[in-house]
Amino acid sequence: MLLLHVVGARPNFPKLAPVHRAGRRTSVDQVVVHTGQHYDDVMSAAFFRELDIPTPDVDLEVGSGSHALQTARIMERLEPVLLQWMPDWVVVYGDVNSTMAASIVAVKLGLRVAHVEAGLRSNDWRMPEEINRMVTDRLSSLLLTPSRDADATLRREGKTDDEIVFVGNVMIDSLFHALPRARRSGFRKRMGINGRAVVVTLHRPSNVDDAERLGAIASALREIAEEHDVVFPAHPRTRQRLEEGGHDLGKVQLFDPVGYTQMLDLVDGASVVITDSGGLQEETTALGVPCLTVRENTERPITITEGTNRLVPDPGDLVGAIRGLEREAKPRCPEGWDGKAGERVVEALVRKQVRTTAA
Ligand code: UD1
Repeated sequence: MLLLHVVGARPNFPKLAPVHRAGRRTSVDQVVVHTGQHYDDVMSAAFFRELDIPTPDVDLEVGSGSHALQTARIMERLEPVLLQWMPDWVVVYGDVNSTMAASIVAVKLGLRVAHVEAGLRSNDWRMPEEINRMVTDRLSSLLLTPSRDADATLRREGKTDDEIVFVGNVMIDSLFHALPRARRSGFRKRMGINGRAVVVTLHRPSNVDDAERLGAIASALREIAEEHDVVFPAHPRTRQRLEEGGHDLGKVQLFDPVGYTQMLDLVDGASVVITDSGGLQEETTALGVPCLTVRENTERPITITEGTNRLVPDPGDLVGAIRGLEREAKPRCPEGWDGKAGERVVEALVRKQVRTTAA
């Protein structure tokens, strides 16, 4: 059986790693296609090295561009690759443009798509990721879900029990796998961080492309940094927008994006995380670190009901929200966030393949 994995952007890589590792332990053949949506070493190759994912077999090198341009380039360049390999499964991850583009190309060639992290919905169509999730799930014949709420959502949308397999959260596989290494890395010390810091990441267009909102966030962070150490490894687009807008961050320590293990060390040692990332909402839940999500909604409600996440739609509320937050001594991990989701993904792919072949 041949699995062809398509990944392209930073959050895809920790999702691919445990699935690929589980695949290597079985007799399946695997091909990795990188679309090149992310290309800076620290946004891409560093993740492959740290997560022990083999170098991609194919790199489509699409680079940055408008959503239409990026999606179109991926589709155009992926088609001959899929025709060359004709895999049993095209496995796609998460909700980035590469995920949706690959799904469209694959189904039009009559190939079957398996979506890892299916069924998440913010119900906010202003988010490009929501469109990517909806299209990908509609086209996928195997929906591999990270939480039970995702199963229920997919059923409501008309998917059948046969198509939905609850596998748990592959991101947490990567977290557990890398945590000992992160703790040994000494990264925080090297960055001069003593004690617990507030760790910030922001990159959503809704936060960073709106100058007024970014100004309000910068002002809140400036105030928080008067009382706490605040570290902010900034996504390239965020740094660009901060510079363009001349936003003053005061004592906030702004640095370039960091690799997977380094980020894990930062988050593991944090007092609080302020973010708009989906992955960090999950990672903070698994680590018991309070998380303030600067968004109106989340496609990961389980991080609120069972985890440490709290939505703070108005940046003006961040200063108050941070007061009195405590880390959880014993984090509660939601069902299936147990380090074995990658294995369950491969099991589901093999099982479904066997059943289809038999039928
Ligand atoms: C993408 C995903 C988002 C994910 C995020 C994680 C979509 C629609 N968005 O957003 O869901 O949470 O990745 O990072 O797929 N850039 C670089 N170097 C890189 C990559 C990008 O400098 O290696 C800069 C470029 O200026 C580029 C901008 O970042 O134009 C945006 O990159 P893009 O891939 O379009 O979207 P992200 O904001 O990274």
